[in-house]
Amino acid sequence: MLILKPSDIPSSAITPREQYLDRRRFLRGAVAVGAAALGAERIAQIVSPTSGVFAGTRLQTVKSPLTTTGEDLTSYQYVTSYNNYYEFGVDKSEPAKNAGRLPVRPWTVRVEGLVKTPKTFDIDALLKLHPLEDRIYRHRCVEAWSMVVLWVGYSLSEFIKQCDPLSTAKFVQFLSYYDKKVEPWAGDSAISWPYSEGLRMDEAMNPLTLLTFGMYGETLPNQNGAPVRVVVPWKYGFKSAKSIVTVRFVAKEPHTTWNDQNEQEYGFYSNVNPNVDHPRWSQKTERRIGLPFYAQRKTTLMFNGYGDQVASLYKGMDLRRYY
Ligand code: MTE
Repeated sequence: MLILKPSDIPSSAITPREQYLDRRRFLRGAVAVGAAALGAERIAQIVSPTSGVFAGTRLQTVKSPLTTTGEDLTSYQYVTSYNNYYEFGVDKSEPAKNAGRLPVRPWTVRVEGLVKTPKTFDIDALLKLHPLEDRIYRHRCVEAWSMVVLWVGYSLSEFIKQCDPLSTAKFVQFLSYYDKKVEPWAGDSAISWPYSEGLRMDEAMNPLTLLTFGMYGETLPNQNGAPVRVVVPWKYGFKSAKSIVTVRFVAKEPHTTWNDQNEQEYGFYSNVNPNVDHPRWSQKTERRIGLPFYAQRKTTLMFNGYGDQVASLYKGMDLRRYY
């Protein structure tokens, strides 16, 4: 089993020094550009190199026909330092500082519930289950900010096929790693852990739904949900559970963390929808992280721009009711 300890990683698999230095140079540039938009305290937090931020093992990938093109990628530095991962702190800068403690090897994913036989997959077996693809997706958070991210993974449907779900399985639930000794910050919020998310089976089987192991050609940084997470690009970011340890096939809509917190604000479906405001703010536009202040404001697209591929999943549903 591949253990990602520094001593075990062949030098060929380590991010080239030039690339690392490029990132550092980029970071200095980004700080200059971002200075207008960010407070000094936030900048100080972003530039402090923390475990996980620069870590990463190169992954072999193939191009994907499902990539989104035409928009500039958000820089790696922003994607890895402006995070929601409440188990490691509620402030956006905290996961990058704290998630280095997440033990990403050994790691297993347990498959249970309505399946022929419950199974446990080792993460390194999961990595090899299907060729890894580079997929550029828009990433839209319910808080009305967005990024464009180069993820690495394969369609969740490839994994689900290996799980042999029964025909009675109508939904799939994802549970994240939780250990309060590793994640004492989890106690800072009223959330009942572990983080839980879910998809209807047809949403989970849609080829866009990505079982994600990496970003920008490397393994995921811990703050982005290492070693494995889902990414559902037409939904608000909170549907994309990080650091998954259990996948459970169920007959009924599973409970989800944000819906438990406030069902008026966070529905089960949570499709990106500029026509349905969040009770406390508009969803018509979004702020693209990492761009100069004058260029940040973007119009939010229905289904985050993935309507051609997913609108049919919701035919006949009142999307104001099933928000
Ligand atoms: N998964 C876990 N386990 N814990 C979390 O707090 N936050 C969610 C989602 N997955 C979260 C999580 C939210 S609110 C968002 S917007 C995305 O992760 C953020 O993903 P990113 O940090 O990679 O941008």
